[in-house]
Amino acid sequence: MMHTPFTQKLQIRHPIVQAPMAGGPTTPDLIAAVSNAGGLGNLGAGYLTPQQIGQAIREVKERTDHPFGVNLFVPEPFIESAEEIHQVTNHLNAYRVQLGITQNPNISNYAESFEEQVQAVLDGKVPVCSFTFGIPESRIIKALKQRGTLVIGTATTVEEAIRLEAAGVDAIVAQGSEAGGHRGAFLNQPIEPLVGTMALVPQMVDAVSLPVIAAGGIMDGRGLAASLALGASAVQMGTAFLACTESGAHPAYKQKVLVAHEDETVITHVYSGKAARGIITDFVKDMDQYSGAIPPYPIQNALTRDIRQAAAKANNPEYMSLWAGQGVRQATDRSAAEIVQHTVEQAIAVLNRMPLNS
Ligand SMILES: Cc1cc2nc3c(=O)[nH]c(=O)nc-3n(C[C@H](O)[C@H](O)[C@H](O)COP(=O)(O)O)c2cc1C
Repeated sequence: MMHTPFTQKLQIRHPIVQAPMAGGPTTPDLIAAVSNAGGLGNLGAGYLTPQQIGQAIREVKERTDHPFGVNLFVPEPFIESAEEIHQVTNHLNAYRVQLGITQNPNISNYAESFEEQVQAVLDGKVPVCSFTFGIPESRIIKALKQRGTLVIGTATTVEEAIRLEAAGVDAIVAQGSEAGGHRGAFLNQPIEPLVGTMALVPQMVDAVSLPVIAAGGIMDGRGLAASLALGASAVQMGTAFLACTESGAHPAYKQKVLVAHEDETVITHVYSGKAARGIITDFVKDMDQYSGAIPPYPIQNALTRDIRQAAAKANNPEYMSLWAGQGVRQATDRSAAEIVQHTVEQAIAVLNRMPLNS
């Protein structure tokens, strides 16, 4: 057991948050396994319909009595350009030919309704709700808190953390640039700020009075011990759980995660229109030539969906999005409970072995 302000708030045994991972990895089995092992399991619900969110919450509750969370994407305004969509659709058609799927697909809906997703979370009465890509309106934060739900925001800079604290969240994920998946940045800066976890966490801890959860590149007990030393109240680990037994990631994706090295990931926006870190694929390399002409999120995400899905069906990871962080070399195929247990035991051993001049 390791007590921190975050574990005490939630009454959980270990300061380990399994990152919400939208797109399939965070199955009810994974979430429940982490929560039952004393961590905090999280559902990545950003792409789910309200019905799917309700169903997943019920399935998690059937498997655990411990706290768990649900994560949503705060929608951002975006500009739709018919010309840009037409151009990128032409480029994407080349992949559709290779995969044998329909060209020029008609995209009717870019994203699920955020309001309805929030309602599904309110109805599901979950212990924790986290957000990324922005700050939800204060009426949403209030409504969640009124139901006893702990609200967590995601920040990639100190300024974003200060804004989240002012908006009334209960804890903040400090997402460093090592992190796998989409960047949670929401204060649009001309150049994407890519602050690493080691630099970000202590600066955020100094600037806000809420528990800070370190995320990005944390793969084991050494990362947990280091994060606690930096002032974090917990760690959020995504890549570490991607290839575990209970993860719902596609088998070809898991295989890539298990063999990839630390220098084989890149931050790209060619899959979704939003910066995200993943394993370098042929799609990333080819589409890079059009990087100045990619529509913003969620348009590009919707435009590439059929390609990613057909690639998954064909077991072709080169056209799938393989989100993963820089710690990827350390990913294992152990069970989620073993990962939690090993992380805690190793952190305690590391902290006990610290050289002290006494
Ligand atoms: C496959 C994958 C999907 C992700 N999806 C989400 C998501 O839906 N919501 C979210 O807040 N963060 C998401 N993230 C980011 C994680 O919350 C976290 O910041 C990151 O995993 C930490 O870095 P690590 O992967 O090095 O552990 C995702 C990360 C990965 C690897």
